[in-house]
Amino acid sequence: MKILVTGGLGYIGSHISVELMLDGNDVTIVDNLDNSYFYTLEKINIISGREVKFIKADVRDFVCMCGILSNERFDAVIHLAGAKSLHESIRDPIKYYENNVCGTIVLLKAMERTGIKMLVFSSSATVYGIPSSSAITESFPLKPNSPYGMSKLMVEQILQDKVNSDASWRIAILRFFNPVGAHPSGLIGDAPKGIPNNLIPYVVQVAAKHRDVLSIYGNDYNTLDGSAIRDYIHVVDLARGHLQALQKLKNTFGVVKYNLGTGVGTSVLQIVQAFENATGEKVPYLIAPRRLGDIDQYFADSSLAEKELGWKASRNVKQMCEDAWRFHVRSCQ
Ligand code: NAD
Ligand code: UD1
Repeated sequence: MKILVTGGLGYIGSHISVELMLDGNDVTIVDNLDNSYFYTLEKINIISGREVKFIKADVRDFVCMCGILSNERFDAVIHLAGAKSLHESIRDPIKYYENNVCGTIVLLKAMERTGIKMLVFSSSATVYGIPSSSAITESFPLKPNSPYGMSKLMVEQILQDKVNSDASWRIAILRFFNPVGAHPSGLIGDAPKGIPNNLIPYVVQVAAKHRDVLSIYGNDYNTLDGSAIRDYIHVVDLARGHLQALQKLKNTFGVVKYNLGTGVGTSVLQIVQAFENATGEKVPYLIAPRRLGDIDQYFADSSLAEKELGWKASRNVKQMCEDAWRFHVRSCQ
């Protein structure tokens, strides 16, 4: 297939692009480099042994997107471009609605104009808000508790409405749990600009002695060791899920929605221990107050993706830690 990947130089997009190329697809990446680096392109080419096309552009630029989409006959778009920090979205909600919602609307209009009707959209487990129980299925109520989560839910609704108005569209909404780790080559991975928000990038920086100590946000949750539990999924497993979703869309019209997680919950303290075991590096930590908006525990019920996509995550927390660390070490070389 010929695939356009928006946000393809970012953390998840770069891994998806690699897996698509290794699978024999042609990939064009559109990215405005707001939260990524141009050099990632070369890394993608090295791993895949092929040449990915890159266009520096903003998905909110309708004229530009129409030009890109009409220049080549794309079979599908994988849409990842957007802003992703829950905390930043509380401080600056308009940025999130503008980029995530308006960006998707412009993309959909450009796709409509050029007759491309197959889309995979990167949603998030955050659309569930505070879930009623820990193992989340796709039918759980959707009540995001942040502008970021709301922007994802709005896009989901827009996609549903689009399909309701035109049944010839094929759309997969994938709700990611906690993507972590890196490509096993160590060439691409999570390289957040500024102070990391997320756990594993912060753990890596503490292990690397770039930061003194990890703050563990809360040890009084109702969990086995008091720290919060999440469903960490290896980014390569997540990327492979996108290939399976494209396969599904080849013979499906309408909207399909899947959770992409492992179904396994891991606590923050367990992550620290696993990271130390996997890398041999110490991760000094202190217990800090709970982080506003954090939930005690949740993980995916991904049985629908297993049944309908034939997809199941296979990489464990040890591999996630080893690969995240290898990416750090190689980045320093
Ligand atoms: P990322 O920031 O690494 O990648 C996003 C990419 O999109 C970046 O390269 C950025 O430069 C680009 N971009 C942003 N706005 C753009 C625009 N208007 N036009 C063109 N390019 C633009 O983030 P990621 O972790 O790879 O996440 C990818 C997608 O997956 C996002 O939509 C995010 O909301 C979603 N998601 C991520 C996570 C996670 O934990 N990483 C979890 C759930 C969902
Ligand atoms: C975050 C996003 C969520 C997104 C998800 C996908 C926030 C609040 N939520 O979820 O919208 O869908 O990523 O990956 O940003 N922790 C620490 N110390 C740290 C960092 C994190 O103890 O320095 C803890 C957190 O309290 C949490 C766990 O580690 O319990 C995971 O945190 P994080 O990686 O930020 O992910 P989430 O908050 O689950």
